[in-house]
Amino acid sequence: MPRAIVLSSPEVTPAGAVDLTVQIGAVRLRNPILAASGTFGYGVEFAHLVDLNRLGGIVVKGLSREPMEGAPAPRLCETPSGMLNAVGLQNIGVRAFVAEKLPVLRKYDTAIIANVFGYSVEDYVEVIQVLEDAEGLAAYELNISCPNVKRGGVQFGGDPGMVAEVVGAARKASAKRPLWVKLSPMVADIGLIARTAEGGGADALTVANTYPAMAVDPWTGKSCLGNQTGGLSGPSIKPITLRLVWETRKAVKTPIIGVGGIETAKDVLEYLAVGATAVQVGTASFTDPKVSQRLTADLERALFNAKTFTINEMRGKISADFG
Ligand SMILES: Cc1cc2nc3c(=O)[nH]c(=O)nc-3n(C[C@H](O)[C@H](O)[C@H](O)COP(=O)(O)O)c2cc1C
Repeated sequence: MPRAIVLSSPEVTPAGAVDLTVQIGAVRLRNPILAASGTFGYGVEFAHLVDLNRLGGIVVKGLSREPMEGAPAPRLCETPSGMLNAVGLQNIGVRAFVAEKLPVLRKYDTAIIANVFGYSVEDYVEVIQVLEDAEGLAAYELNISCPNVKRGGVQFGGDPGMVAEVVGAARKASAKRPLWVKLSPMVADIGLIARTAEGGGADALTVANTYPAMAVDPWTGKSCLGNQTGGLSGPSIKPITLRLVWETRKAVKTPIIGVGGIETAKDVLEYLAVGATAVQVGTASFTDPKVSQRLTADLERALFNAKTFTINEMRGKISADFG
């Protein structure tokens, strides 16, 4: 008989009764809940709302070689059970991040992960080289859902050859820190891409990014986004990404961080059941900036009520099929 998971008990979990710590390669997290890139700024903007010390970690907004202005407004639009965004990877650039944001952020006792992107292999390498000299980062997360301008704009993440090239180059550049690779969901065979990233030296895989999508007003004929198309996130993508995590788990041994549509502690447990070690929370922070902090408490209570005293017991429950 599976144990019932009670998520709504009002009781307060006794301090320290449940061990939520997880290990992603060399990185130890206080709990498995991280804020997802692009949905939590550079972290510091949320410090007055959220106790950052309670989060498992913060993945900062994607960082590029040069500052980027991003896409035209509107950049966000609500869809049934989801959200579309076309922010266009606006950011202050890696050097300003190191000079202005990181010194504030590293005072908090949480893992800071720098999300890195580029439009050529050299771009990715340069961003990492700048970060290598900075203090206070736990890992890099490579966003490979970007077009490779030198290859006619084909997404890095969909082509095993380009995945091998960019991950291999980033691996060489990141001598000091673990390298997480964030996969694109828009691939024919996620297992092949995951094995390629693992073979290139990824220490963990984040699964996955948003799904290309659009929404339109039929009367005006206008897209709801200034960029016309965008990325779909939120609850509508959870079952799709859950499967990608499961397929990834079957393909590789590398730790997986699941991300897509998480709003409740049960959602977190579902990702762990299919093999993720940790999760990231994105869109849910738009409706409740404190969601990650709340999820940690909910998770602790759910496990306590189910008499499961370490989070790691919840991982890979569906493992009979893993082979
Ligand atoms: C507004 C917005 C901005 C995002 N920016 C980034 C980014 O800069 N880099 C990145 O790797 N992912 C970015 N993402 C993707 C999220 O990190 C996450 O993978 C995705 O939204 C799915 O999780 P969710 O359903 O919990 O939002 C962004 C998502 C949103 C909604």
